[in-house]
Amino acid sequence: MRFDPYSEEFFEDPTDVYKWLRDNAPVYHNEERGFWALSRYDDVLRAHRDWQTFSSTHGVSLDDLVVPGPSIANNVIVMDPPEHDRLRALVSRAFTPRAIANFEPLVRSVEADFLDRLDGRSEFDIVADFSAPFPVEVISALLGVPPDGRQQIRHWTDEMLHREPGNPKPPKSAFRAAIALGGYLFELAQEKGGHPGDDMMSALCEAGLSDIEVASFAVLLAAAGSETVTKLIGSAVVLFARNPDQWRLVLDDAAAIPGAVEEVLRYVPPSQYQGRYAVADVSFEGVTIPADTPVLLLTGSATRDERAYDRPDQFDITRDHHIALGFGHGAHACIGAHLARLEARVALEEIRRRWPTFAIDEAGLRRVTMSNVAGYVNVPFSVTG
Ligand code: HEM
Repeated sequence: MRFDPYSEEFFEDPTDVYKWLRDNAPVYHNEERGFWALSRYDDVLRAHRDWQTFSSTHGVSLDDLVVPGPSIANNVIVMDPPEHDRLRALVSRAFTPRAIANFEPLVRSVEADFLDRLDGRSEFDIVADFSAPFPVEVISALLGVPPDGRQQIRHWTDEMLHREPGNPKPPKSAFRAAIALGGYLFELAQEKGGHPGDDMMSALCEAGLSDIEVASFAVLLAAAGSETVTKLIGSAVVLFARNPDQWRLVLDDAAAIPGAVEEVLRYVPPSQYQGRYAVADVSFEGVTIPADTPVLLLTGSATRDERAYDRPDQFDITRDHHIALGFGHGAHACIGAHLARLEARVALEEIRRRWPTFAIDEAGLRRVTMSNVAGYVNVPFSVTG
């Protein structure tokens, strides 16, 4: 078997290839594409904790990693401690559990606004009509992006991450979109520097970040904040349609929802792998990964590892979760995890309240083909109750 994160089979369903890797090649080397991959839970966890060996400064997506050299973007996700920690401390103040709890009314009203438009319809697309357009509205409101620019941010982000199956090179349209998004946010950062408002971009300008740094962080937040939550909710609806006994638990008691969100995150992590660059020789499972090579930490495989989870392929929302590896781990663990959990919880609460009985059209499901991100672009949904 062969593991190629740009292949059609991988985009369609990586479950079998992940199992094969864990059992037969837990320290996998893809010579053609020039990377290594860790797939077992313990190994992925150890690599996340060892930032000294596994650097993020060469990029965290495979496309960036296979063209070696430090990334130009001055951004938390592609920095190592101690620089990373200084910038992260500055930006993470806005994302503490208490700060995020204050956003619940905003999140609920943004989501309700999209869902209200669907009320009364018996068929719609729960991703295209709801989980794709709403997260970018939330993160843009926090950043201070004016309302008329918000959906455009999502379209640029979608294009920026799109990959043609079989081809690791980003298409030209991805570069164009990245430049347009960066340019837009850079101009906005400049405006905020001159006329600060009550928003995150202004706060970062006031905290002393340069316009470039503010724009670069805003690009990361726009992408991280809009793509992943979309995928989590789409996958949740599909999993509940396929596992009606689990949806019944949610219908019986809304208190089951936070556990359900964790289980969707484990079952199909929206971010399937984190890329790193090994700066020294390092051994796992008796195999040595040589220095100066890209290594993928396969989160999507680690969270299905039978060595770490009982019945890993069973979707069980009552499971105990100790470490939410789907949000990464260690120095780079997701800053937006509390916000993502809030958005997903509110979404499931609203779906439960509005459409307790629903079906999906399996034949109409369409997956994204993106760098790092996994999930659906279309989930046709019909109200059956
Ligand atoms: C379900 C939704 C989400 C998932 C699955 C997710 C997943 C992840 C993962 C796996 C990482 C680690 C990356 C690495 O180690 O290289 C990460 C980092 C990050 N995420 Fe999220 N994320 C989600 C939502 C969000 C949201 C809503 C935001 C912002 C509002 C956000 C902002 C960030 C940032 C800024 C980092 C970089 C942290 C650092 O490098 O120190 N994420 N996320």
